[in-house]
Amino acid sequence: MKPVFLIGFMGAGKTTIGKALSARLNKPVYDTDQMIERKYGKSISQIFELYGEQEFRKMETALLKEITEKSGIITTGGGIILTNENREWMKKTGDVIFLQCDFSSLWERLEGDHTRPLVYHRKKDEVESLYKNRLPLYLESATITIDTTDKTVEETVDEIIRRLNG
Ligand code: S3P
Repeated sequence: MKPVFLIGFMGAGKTTIGKALSARLNKPVYDTDQMIERKYGKSISQIFELYGEQEFRKMETALLKEITEKSGIITTGGGIILTNENREWMKKTGDVIFLQCDFSSLWERLEGDHTRPLVYHRKKDEVESLYKNRLPLYLESATITIDTTDKTVEETVDEIIRRLNG
């Protein structure tokens, strides 16, 4: 099986759905943010604070290329689609599943979050424009798009499996 990348905006449930999908398919799951945190011994917030977003993006691209050598589920940070290099890499090496979700539902999960530097101290409008700017990139990157807005984790996993097999 080629790698399955889960992409989507912050709060879309990539990590949760990735774990459930991994259990159902009996495949390992890799999370780019967690691997970066482990590799550098720092939280994502600390990395943004100490080195800045650009440096984080370089780490993210390097890591993406390291993990796709294995087959499994890869849950990604919401900004993975920002570079052409990452988008092409994911499409070339695996299935890319976009977990689409209405901004209002995302915001319910994100509001007040202290762990995400691109949400912390930002107003709803600012985060919403980030979402709107990125939407075409998620759609362009995806080989499969799934609307998760009113679905449970199990329903989403069922649909992913069905679409992967279809
Ligand atoms: C980011 C999303 C985060 C994390 C970092 C930047 C983004 O991951 O990679 O804070 O640019 O959207 P999640 O999507 O898992 O929150």
